[in-house]
Amino acid sequence: MAEYRIPVPLAERSYSIEIAPNLLTSVRATDVLAELAGNSRLCIVTHPTLKRYAEPLIQALEGRGILPALHLVPAGEHRKNIATVMKIYSALLEAKLDRKSLVVVIGGGVLGDVGGFVAASYLRGIRFVQIPTTLLAQVDASVGGKTGIDLPEGKNLVGAFHQPSSVLIDPNTLKTLPMRELRSGLAEVIKYGIIYDEGFFKRVDTLLPTLLKRDVDSLAQIIARSCEIKAEVVSQDETEQGIRAILNFGHTVGHALEAVTQYRRYKHGEAVAIGMIAESRIGELLGQTPSEVTTALRESLLRAGLPVDFPSDVSVEAILEVAQRDKKTIGGLLRFLVPTRMGEVIQRNDVPESVIYRALGR
Ligand SMILES: NC(=O)c1ccc[n+]([C@@H]2O[C@H](COP(=O)([O-])OP(=O)(O)OC[C@H]3O[C@@H](n4cnc5c(N)ncnc54)[C@H](O)[C@@H]3O)[C@@H](O)[C@H]2O)c1
Repeated sequence: MAEYRIPVPLAERSYSIEIAPNLLTSVRATDVLAELAGNSRLCIVTHPTLKRYAEPLIQALEGRGILPALHLVPAGEHRKNIATVMKIYSALLEAKLDRKSLVVVIGGGVLGDVGGFVAASYLRGIRFVQIPTTLLAQVDASVGGKTGIDLPEGKNLVGAFHQPSSVLIDPNTLKTLPMRELRSGLAEVIKYGIIYDEGFFKRVDTLLPTLLKRDVDSLAQIIARSCEIKAEVVSQDETEQGIRAILNFGHTVGHALEAVTQYRRYKHGEAVAIGMIAESRIGELLGQTPSEVTTALRESLLRAGLPVDFPSDVSVEAILEVAQRDKKTIGGLLRFLVPTRMGEVIQRNDVPESVIYRALGR
C-alpha cells in the first residue's frame, strides 16, 4: 500500500502532509487529532454528504474521551462567503472552542478555504487540520495556507495566510467523488507538470486512464508528487512575493471566467484548464512558448475530459474587467504566467490587450 509523508518546512509553522489509503479510519489519524486537541475542544466542520468520513473519527475520538462538536455546512462555491463564515463562528462559540482548540475541516477546496479562514480569524487565530476529500483539494487547496472567501466582485478577495497544523489525505475518499470533480482536480495535477516538472507531466499523461478509474495507488502517487511540488514552492515563498506565483498558471483567465459565469458554470479545475490553454497561447503570441507545449497540454487536458476552449458567448471585455480586480493585478497591470518550455513558466505583465483578444479566439 502506498503511504507518503511530505514535510512542509516553514520554520515554526512547519507541518506534514500524510497520504495513505484508509488513513481516516486508522489509529494514526485519531492520534494526530487527539494530540493537537490536547485538553481543549475540537470541532469538525464538513458537508452533510460527507458525514460518513467524520463519523469514524468522532467514534474513535470519543473512545479516547474527546467529544468533538460537529458542524454541517451546505456545499457550493456560491456559499464561499461571509454568511457561511458567520455561521461557523457561531457554531464554534456554541461548542465553546477556545484559543487552544482545534478546527478540523473535512471537504473540498471551498470548505477548506472557508474553514481555514474561520480558523485564521476566530479569537485571532486557532489551529486547524485539513482533511481534503476532493482531488483538487488534496493536490492543491489544502496545502500552503491560503484561506479565504469570495466577494460578488471576484474570487478569494478576502482572506489570510494561515497554515494548517496537519493535512491528512485518504485517497479512498475519492471513490465517492463525482467524475466531473475528479477531472477538475486533474487540471491542477497537469498544471504541476507544465510549471515545474516535465517528467511528472509525462507520468501523469501515461497514468490518466488508471487515474480516471480511481486506482488508489496511482492516485496516492500523483497526489504525493503534487503536494511535494507545492510544498517545495510554498516553503521558498510562503506569501507569494516571487516564485509562488508560478502556481497561478491558468488562473488569471480561469478566475475571471469563474466570476463572469457566477461560479456556477465551471468547476474550478475546468476554468483553470481553459485558462492554461489561453495563457499558453498568450505565450505563443509573445514568442515565448513553443507551440508543442500548448499542443501537449491541450491533448492531455482533453484526455482527462476537461474543457479547453474559451467559450464564444463570454465577452473578453468582461474577463478583462474582472481580471483587473484580481489580487494578482498590481498597479493595474494584468499578470500572466506563460510556459517557456515544458516544466517552466515565467510571469509577464506587459501583454497587449490585442494579444489577449487573439489568445481568447477573437
Ligand atoms: N487555498 C488554495 O490554495 C486553493 C487552491 C486551489 C483551489 N482553491 C479553492 O478550492 C475551491 C474548489 O475546490 P473543490 O474543487 O474541491 O470544490 P468543492 O469544495 O466545492 O467540492 C466539490 C463538490 O464535491 C463534494 N465532495 C467533496 N468531497 C467529496 C467526496 N469525497 N465524495 C463526494 N463528494 C465530495 C463537495 O460537497 C462539493 O459539492 C475553489 O474555491 C478554489 O478557489 C484554493
